[in-house]
Amino acid sequence: MAGQIPQRFIDDLLGRVDVVEVVGERVQLKKAGRNFSGLCPFHQEKTPSFTVSADKQFYHCFGCGAHGNALRFLMEYDKLPFPEAVEQLAGRLGLEVPREGADDPRAQQREKKRKEGVNLLEVAASFYRERLKMQEGQSAQRYLQGRGLSPEVIDTYGIGYAPGGWEALKQHLSAKGIGESVQVEYGLLIHREDTGRTYDRFRDRVMFPIRDLRGRTIAFGGRVMGDEQPKYLNSPETPVFHKGRELYGLYEARQASSKLEQLVMVEGYMDVVALAQYGIHNAVATLGTATTEDHLSRLFRLVSRVVFCFDGDRAGRQAASRALETALPQMIDGREARFLFLPDGDDPDSLVRREGSEAFQDRVTCAMPLSEFLFEQAAQGRDLNTVEGRERFASQVLEALNKVPDGMLKSLLLESLAKRSGLAQSQLQALLDKRTAAGSASPQWEPVDDAPLEPVVADEASHPAVLRRQGAKLQALSMVARIVQLLLHEPRLVTVLPETLEWLPDHSEEASLCRDLIALLRAGRYRSPQVVLAHFQGSHEGRVLAELAQRELLIPKSTREAELNGLVEHLLEKQRKRSPQEEYDALLALERSGQKLDKEQRQRLASLMMELVQRSGDRPAKSNT
Ligand code: UTP
Ligand code: MN
Repeated sequence: MAGQIPQRFIDDLLGRVDVVEVVGERVQLKKAGRNFSGLCPFHQEKTPSFTVSADKQFYHCFGCGAHGNALRFLMEYDKLPFPEAVEQLAGRLGLEVPREGADDPRAQQREKKRKEGVNLLEVAASFYRERLKMQEGQSAQRYLQGRGLSPEVIDTYGIGYAPGGWEALKQHLSAKGIGESVQVEYGLLIHREDTGRTYDRFRDRVMFPIRDLRGRTIAFGGRVMGDEQPKYLNSPETPVFHKGRELYGLYEARQASSKLEQLVMVEGYMDVVALAQYGIHNAVATLGTATTEDHLSRLFRLVSRVVFCFDGDRAGRQAASRALETALPQMIDGREARFLFLPDGDDPDSLVRREGSEAFQDRVTCAMPLSEFLFEQAAQGRDLNTVEGRERFASQVLEALNKVPDGMLKSLLLESLAKRSGLAQSQLQALLDKRTAAGSASPQWEPVDDAPLEPVVADEASHPAVLRRQGAKLQALSMVARIVQLLLHEPRLVTVLPETLEWLPDHSEEASLCRDLIALLRAGRYRSPQVVLAHFQGSHEGRVLAELAQRELLIPKSTREAELNGLVEHLLEKQRKRSPQEEYDALLALERSGQKLDKEQRQRLASLMMELVQRSGDRPAKSNT
């Protein structure tokens, strides 16, 4: 572990960031008087009870009680441990997080090496930039000019030139006292095992530096100027570069606009740069890999809409359906994905140059919504005039729907599917629940025999009132709520729970309701759901329970015990992943935020304190590291 983050720094940080901005990047907020309001990201709701106060620099949800400052929000929403949340906030302001009293020499060593690597890449980037301006960079200059790049955009993206020969960069770096092994580790130098020789990885190429969100160079892409292969050479995976995570152009896009709303995903370096030159500054590219979940979750942290750009050919369609698969699990409420298919033979670079930026922007605006693309794909090659064709169509859509988190999109897709397939929405919902309960990822779906898919008149099913009811049913339950629901439907299951309740999260209304319910059931007098409900009658808890009781339990009796065990195991696992310091911080933050700790939590806090003191021979840090 690196050293501890000084409290001063945290206070200063919180003084400088704006909670409205931080929250606003992840939750759609509307101005409401002095405050902002929106749908709470911490529980499912249809009317906004989540408010953010710019004056107080606090958020608060009147629905679920979630509240805190910008740091707490990042920890909860992005599921970041404390130090990473601090890093994130600091990164926005371009601040380096100071650490005091780094105690672990190995961590210090790692940190030192990381800095060394980043510096090294920075030195290399400026070396390439300088070479582009010198005599030997003339051919590269001409090449870039030929591709229509302006000096401004070359400068913005820090494009440079790696000289030919074998050792230009190596000599430059070595003269600065940088060891060869570091150069190899960061992908600048290639070491050949057989001859023991080392030489520059990038030779006679136009160089595109890849930067992280703070603008530090972390890798390179280099393009040949002729027809040699490979056309683009990218840095290998290094301690600071992971292809599956990084996106070319993201830093520059953020620099260009402080209020990004959407990002356009394109395929190549040249596409990003050309679009920027034409005033479209919000394009990013993956680095010669398919879009990963990591990529998407990074993008969706910054913007609510992502537009994927693909070539119009077969390969483009294929890439698009892979992107769709990756996007589905990420489509929580408030996020939007669209698909833009370019004319055959064009890429964004060629298209924007031919059509101009407005025409390109129009294409982006009119890009196909995810739902449309999904339906289009499922309909491909099927005759929807036949029952068989409609079943197969519905089956494929359901398979995709299974991956979509519960929420608006899912309800809408289901509604739409009912209309398009002529199958009743209730039937579709039942099939969907069945799949979910069966543990998803069922292979090719076959029509189930105990619930035959009979086409029905869709009109009734798509009546707004029916849909609204369906919508309510589609809301996601948290793990704790699912446990409460199981216990409520089948109180005897309380006996299979572990003795202690350490698996229950420290806070949340649901957790305390769950605790109460377990205590009640353990006392032994309540063996039927009705009696349990009667006990809570008239209270807020009673209403929550009644709602849960009304929801059908879509799990067969025989697997309920396993389900309960699975949920508890999962929660335990989540708790285990927290270090004592993290747990201590979380509890302390909870207490400081004004929430009263219960007895169990107070005891836990005390024992954590003891544990941490014994470990460090000092009082536990206020912030962990
Ligand atoms: P393209 O070949 O479509 O590149 O590869 P492009 O952007 O249109 O390039 P120009 O216009 O010919 O210069 C798209 C992306 O795939 C990766 C690169 O990230 C490239 O930008 N790629 C391509 C590689 O990593 N290696 C290759 O050899 C080719
Ligand atoms: Mn191209």
